[in-house]
Amino acid sequence: MSSDLRRQQKQVVQEYLDRAIELRDLHAPEQNTEAKQALIEAALKAHNAVLIAHYYTSPEVQALAEATGGFVGDSLEMARFGKQNSAQTLIVAGVKFMGETAKILSPEKRVLMPTLEATCSLDLGCPEDEFSAFCDAHPERVVVVYANTSAAVKARADWVVTSSIALDVVDHLDKQGKKIIWAPDKHLGRYVQQKTGADMLLWDAACIVHEEFKARGILDLKKQHPEAAVLVHPESPESVVELADVVGSTSQLINATKTLPHPAFIVATDQGIFYKMQQACPGKSLYIAPTAGSGATCRSCANCPWMAMNELDALATVFDKTDNEIKVSPQLVTKALIPLERMLQFTAK
Ligand code: 13P
Ligand code: SF4
Repeated sequence: MSSDLRRQQKQVVQEYLDRAIELRDLHAPEQNTEAKQALIEAALKAHNAVLIAHYYTSPEVQALAEATGGFVGDSLEMARFGKQNSAQTLIVAGVKFMGETAKILSPEKRVLMPTLEATCSLDLGCPEDEFSAFCDAHPERVVVVYANTSAAVKARADWVVTSSIALDVVDHLDKQGKKIIWAPDKHLGRYVQQKTGADMLLWDAACIVHEEFKARGILDLKKQHPEAAVLVHPESPESVVELADVVGSTSQLINATKTLPHPAFIVATDQGIFYKMQQACPGKSLYIAPTAGSGATCRSCANCPWMAMNELDALATVFDKTDNEIKVSPQLVTKALIPLERMLQFTAK
């Protein structure tokens, strides 16, 4: 990718980020949480709808999903739950690519989100036209895209993967002698490339949240808590991944807190995950990995600004709005369904 293109994409991500932060600052902190939760619960029942939340949403939203027969999980599990659940309306509390995935897998269902402004820097960093041109320039390569992409980019792919199965899928393709195009996350791509030894051409985009974790800060924290294991999401930079005791998807990191004997964990991913981690390892200590060296400013502070848009207030009006339904054209559904179903079938094995 040219440096001009990379600069343009960084600017787009920054504009969306500024907007997310502006909207966050406009909103008052949550009040009357229980009353709002009760209101949303009643609306879910009245509309035969189910709430599907990502681990990075607020504890209040995750608790509501659990209490109402909904679901809390990683992006792969959210996709599976949405497809298998009988509710005709899915409320996806996450970011837009998660809503789109739910719609592509269940086009007959209505998929609503608290706001369609909840995007992702990886999705923004991989526009379909530029990505298609990149693929066209390397027709001999299998196209593997991360789930954090638009429906249009998925439609251009041979495989969709999430961080929980990226290693397995690439390893499977590598064993068949395939060369790979990987997009969009360069850090996850590099990690998978190093682990599998596969021949991969990497797209150049990154997650603004994970990119801010700092190896120096983790080393300092580790000095204060030598008993802690370091858990890292693979969207983090290489210097951070190198310090990890476990590298994994959100679900894999939660599982590690159950299976590892350590009494404490330093966690390099969005701090929304602490809600489920605390349930998984009660009594153990959790520390968020530092996101910036001393004196530096922090743009995300281990808290995805787009995930944070899934506030209770936005959920309370989810059925009243007219601009929050996920729509994907039938042509795109048909094309994007192929790599998505391939992913689900691969994991079913
Ligand atoms: P998971 O697939 O691990 O849920 O991650 C999604 C994501 O957006 C991480 O930043
Ligand atoms: Fe995207 Fe990063 Fe937010 Fe995950 S945490 S949704 S990868 S911006």
